[in-house]
Amino acid sequence: MGPQGPQVTMSRHDFETPQDLAAALAEAVADNLRAGLAARGAACLALSGGRTPELFFAALSRQELDWSKVSVTLVDERWVPLDSPRSNEALLRRGLLQGPAAAAEVVSLVTADPGPEEGLREVSDRIAALPLPFDAVVLGMGSDGHTASFFPGGDRLAEAIDPAGSALVLPQRAPGAGEPRITLTLPLIVAARSVYLHIEGAEKAAVLKTALQDGPVADMPLRAVLRSPGLPLDIYWCP
Ligand code: 6PG
Repeated sequence: MGPQGPQVTMSRHDFETPQDLAAALAEAVADNLRAGLAARGAACLALSGGRTPELFFAALSRQELDWSKVSVTLVDERWVPLDSPRSNEALLRRGLLQGPAAAAEVVSLVTADPGPEEGLREVSDRIAALPLPFDAVVLGMGSDGHTASFFPGGDRLAEAIDPAGSALVLPQRAPGAGEPRITLTLPLIVAARSVYLHIEGAEKAAVLKTALQDGPVADMPLRAVLRSPGLPLDIYWCP
């Protein structure tokens, strides 16, 4: 592995079906939350949107733990209203806030402001008020090699993936992103007690393989996570 190769300690968990993956990932994340509750009396969690996590959200919602002391937010959000089919928060609320998990508090990454630049201060204050670091962060990945809203060509990509940056969240606009976005930053993500990458399908396995090779971070921003020194990263994959 060259000098630009991964510096994370990766554990790969492969499953035969999306159902098996969802059940195992839900169990692991619930254990992280239980550990946080036992140690600190409160826990916080950041989850990804997109299409992949639906079964995982359902499996996590069935986990028995004191959800009333758990705050859940998103790794990143599209700057759209809650009634938009593109809203990650709507997906999270529909998928997770059922059964035992209905008692969790959802911390929104959007405001009524016209754009993420205007809403940034308020969202940063909400995230700063959480009992950080996160007990667990679950990342997804797009076929362009983005994770969170670290998109190739993102207008604030360098800032968002700066390991020494002090921002907790940042706006992000990119050609491949659709709407303007808001995202947790790299230092906040990698400070989590547990970090997971949840990907499904052969295409994403191939994208991950490429991301693990040498090459510019700006081309495949997931590399910023994969090259975070000392980070234990649990990769959950199924066909
Ligand atoms: C989003 C996400 C994003 C997602 C990947 C994978 O808002 O789009 O949070 O980072 O995890 O794009 O998306 P799919 O699961 O839809 O492939």
